[in-house]
Amino acid sequence: MENKTKPSGSATLNVGDKTLELPVLSGSVGPDVIDVKSLYAQTGMFTLDPGFTSTASCESQITYIDGDNGVLLYRGYPIDQLADNSSFLETCYLLLNGELPSKAELDDYTHTITHHTMLHTQLDRFFEGYRRDAHPMAVMVGTVGALSAFYHDSTDINDPMQRMIATHRLIAKMPTIAARAYKYSVGQPFISPRNDLSYSENFLRMCFAVPAEDYEVNPVLAKAMDKIFILHADHEQNASTSTVRLAGSSGANPFACIAAGIACLWGPSHGGANEAALNMLREIGSVDRIPEFVRRAKDKNDPFRLMGFGHRVYKNYDPRAKVMQKTCHEVLDELDKRDEPLLQVAMELEKIALEDEYFVEKKLYPNIDFYSGITLNALGFPVEMYTVLFALARTVGWIAQWEEMTTDPTQRIGRPRQIYTGATERDYKPVSER
Ligand code: CMC
Repeated sequence: MENKTKPSGSATLNVGDKTLELPVLSGSVGPDVIDVKSLYAQTGMFTLDPGFTSTASCESQITYIDGDNGVLLYRGYPIDQLADNSSFLETCYLLLNGELPSKAELDDYTHTITHHTMLHTQLDRFFEGYRRDAHPMAVMVGTVGALSAFYHDSTDINDPMQRMIATHRLIAKMPTIAARAYKYSVGQPFISPRNDLSYSENFLRMCFAVPAEDYEVNPVLAKAMDKIFILHADHEQNASTSTVRLAGSSGANPFACIAAGIACLWGPSHGGANEAALNMLREIGSVDRIPEFVRRAKDKNDPFRLMGFGHRVYKNYDPRAKVMQKTCHEVLDELDKRDEPLLQVAMELEKIALEDEYFVEKKLYPNIDFYSGITLNALGFPVEMYTVLFALARTVGWIAQWEEMTTDPTQRIGRPRQIYTGATERDYKPVSER
């Protein structure tokens, strides 16, 4: 990656008897940053920012978010335009290469991904080592981590060709692994990928076909699946992406880095939120119980939160949630599930939360997970699979960010510091004296 930040001024910092002029840098859009790299060398002090609310960890040219105005751009293109007009594989190409592909480039890329979807036969047998009741995210972390044991020839991070092959393998094989994680959990035979189907059609077929009968992919549902993948493809320096970058900063191979990203995504504050949102809707159960749950969410002494509401960055409507809401309705109409009690609860909860002073004041809008949980439920996925689908889609973002980091000349191993408040130095006491 060619670094493009521009100096645009300086910030004066007074520390004790020292005055420091720290460079201010500008990107192409978004807040400027104060470059504090030299702070420790000049003052012997660190900055403290747990949760990184004021810290930019890297320069990036992939995804831009304006949380206050509800904007999300992949390589400059608004998310709603991509969701309406693009396909997931075209979006993958865009995220990885920086530009939309020509027709020939897209055909070539689609052919490459389509022809790398099969798994090594030994990897298929690997699944049998998991307990049948394992959470599919546990299966994903383990199996994706194991890819480096099966594809040794694409783990040299200093070889651009090997990096590209690893990227193709990850994007192509992730649906096959995810579908196998699902099939294994329900005790059905694995369904092989088919090269005549699109990425999303193939994935739905691998999940829901059984050898005993033909499976015809519903185009409305395949389109919805593709949109869900586009909406989740990248999201700037979120927790799992930062995990991938941090793991990669030590020189770890891409399969290991993506496994680290999957592990991070699993948590309920991040990718696990769509699962948590649907479980919450089920727990609420009926519209008349909503006020009780809204009351609990507002109670400072109750740890309960309305899952699927609020976002660290979007303090306005999540632009992905808008697209997802529309897709959700399309799927429910297609499947004639509009009157489902779960959806009634969701729609009423959305209405109440959007009008309630607590949520309005704190800018807690429904996020993408609120609607994706309902949509995935209608598509037939069990809740345990929701985060798996998020991981499948986010793989392209993780790998694009990893590639960008690997080729960034300013990249160094990530090594945050701390403010230490533990015991000061003391002498060891033998156990008989304690
Ligand atoms: N329900 C009730 N209150 C909430 C909620 C919620 N969902 N989210 C935030 N708050 C309150 C919180 O209690 C705090 O109140 P106060 O200022 O009185 O202490 C205030 O709003 C700010 O919350 P915060 O935790 O400081 O905000 P954050 O930016 O650290 O957290 C969040 C963001 C997404 C973790 C949080 O909103 C949350 O836990 N939401 C529910 C889980 C969820 O839906 N996560 C999916 C995020 S989108 C997927 C992704 O991009 O990964």
